[in-house]
Amino acid sequence: MSALLEISGIGKSFGAVRVLSGISLAVSEGETLGLIGPNGAGKTTLFNVVTGFLRADAGQVRFAGAPVDRLPPAERAARGLVRTFQKAMVFPALSLRESLAMAARQRAGQGLRWLGARACHQESAARVERLLAESGLARHGGERMADLSYGEQRIADLLMALALEPRLLLLDEPTAGLSQAEAERLLGIVRRHDARTAIVLIAHDIDIVFNHCDRIAVMHLGQLLRTGTPQAVRQDAAVRAAYLGSLAD
Ligand SMILES: Nc1ncnc2c1ncn2[C@@H]1O[C@H](COP(=O)(O)OP(=O)(O)OP(=O)(O)O)[C@@H](O)[C@H]1O
Ligand SMILES: [Mg+2]
Repeated sequence: MSALLEISGIGKSFGAVRVLSGISLAVSEGETLGLIGPNGAGKTTLFNVVTGFLRADAGQVRFAGAPVDRLPPAERAARGLVRTFQKAMVFPALSLRESLAMAARQRAGQGLRWLGARACHQESAARVERLLAESGLARHGGERMADLSYGEQRIADLLMALALEPRLLLLDEPTAGLSQAEAERLLGIVRRHDARTAIVLIAHDIDIVFNHCDRIAVMHLGQLLRTGTPQAVRQDAAVRAAYLGSLAD
């Protein structure tokens, strides 16, 4: 079976600074892949290339069997390649429910146009209520995004992405600033929503990554240092060196 996402030979420089070199990586349907590495390793830049917010200097990105290098972010999202941002871009004045409805309608407009406007609206509204219920945020649906707690805003970011019905969800530090319990809750929401969604998870919290991921890819100075099972990565000498021994046995 071919991979859902296939990244091959990606290179990217900003001026004279090489930020990504020769990155090749594949993600399978339904897999959870952790993407870790020290600050500045190039993790977010790789997400930007994969989702079309940046054009790579070299290499190719294929999604669901087709090259997507020339597609803008919205068209990649329409195919199911969806991301969240390290710095959230929520609409602070809209309510949580309104924000989710915007995302859900965007998706329905792409996939269900043949059903007609009314059916699209009903389908979107149902999806929003389902997301609110699954996430435990139903009673906050009417609150402005800006009035939600920090932890709830992080969940709201996630729900905005889930409303697009991703086949692959790229999460850029969704658990930053959350307690262990809040982080576990957030990642549980994705799996409860759809166990088949593939995930690439960037996180600095090593416990979260090692507990939740099937495989882990380690970046360092713009290169892919290792990819492997959590156990293999944890024991790898080069990975341990990059993390200056902060990986416990
Ligand atoms: N638009 C840009 N212009 C110039 N340099 C950039 C730009 N975006 C990122 N960089 C540089 O590229 C390198 C990789 O940055 P990137 O944000 O991808 O790292 P990261 O692994 O996501 O780090 P962090 O864990 O801190 O989020 C850094 O040295 C950063 O300063
Ligand atoms: Mg980053």
